[in-house]
Amino acid sequence: MAVVEGFQTIGVDSLTPHIGAEIDGVDLSQPLSNEQFSEVYQAWLDWKVVVFRDQHINQEQHKAFGRRFGSLHVHPMQHQYKGDPEVLRVKTTKDSAYTAGNGWHTDVTCDEIPPLGSMLYITETPESGGGDTLYADMYLAYELLSDKMKGILEGLTAVHDGALPYVTGYKSTPPESGAYPRNEHPIVVSHPETGKKVLYVNSGFTSHIKDLAGWESKAILDALFNHIATSPRLTCRVDWQPNTLTFWDNRCTQHHAIWDYWPNNRYGERVSILGNERPAA
Ligand code: SIN
Repeated sequence: MAVVEGFQTIGVDSLTPHIGAEIDGVDLSQPLSNEQFSEVYQAWLDWKVVVFRDQHINQEQHKAFGRRFGSLHVHPMQHQYKGDPEVLRVKTTKDSAYTAGNGWHTDVTCDEIPPLGSMLYITETPESGGGDTLYADMYLAYELLSDKMKGILEGLTAVHDGALPYVTGYKSTPPESGAYPRNEHPIVVSHPETGKKVLYVNSGFTSHIKDLAGWESKAILDALFNHIATSPRLTCRVDWQPNTLTFWDNRCTQHHAIWDYWPNNRYGERVSILGNERPAA
């Protein structure tokens, strides 16, 4: 880790040169001062994934921290669970048929306006070790494409379908009110705050590219998904300790939970924050 200079009210140590940083000097059980909040916000925009260790918070404190960034999101699969609709439980045991997020994805891109960020608070880590999460930098994923490929992708739109992970992957049933969300987003979007270009397709939700033959769409998406899955330089790795909270910018990252710890348990709770605008080129 390397110390990042320029912060007065928090400590910031980077995990890699471009993605991931640990923040210290912050107690998330207490309201952050305006100065601390704006430095945390800046560190989150700069590093895309920020990690807070040794935090002791309850659900209300977790949600209160989330609300500093916007209104809270209710997950489309939440109708299946009891409990607070704004808190998504991430629980894996020896009896689990799957573990949430065990594949590269950006959260809930099937929504018209996907969450701008998610905060996962892990309180139980596997006794065996393991259970890390990988995060990938989608600014860098875009930058590493050739100019020719960037030219091909400009102007293309992809469909993001909630049925893909939730029905096909997790075998869940849609809410009674209708099907899981399905929406279209440009393949290359601009981050609404930094203005930087982002490669915005993910193997979790993106079903196909509009206006192309099926084989053309499949060839391009497979190539892009491969680029993400086979480029370790895009990533940082969060090794969870109990009582770690990680907050990622969902507009410019993907993540992959690693289920390498069966039959051990892992438990956490996630709060996501509603986005403010549709992803746009
Ligand atoms: C998720 O996709 O939000 C779950 C990530 C994790 O459990 O590490």
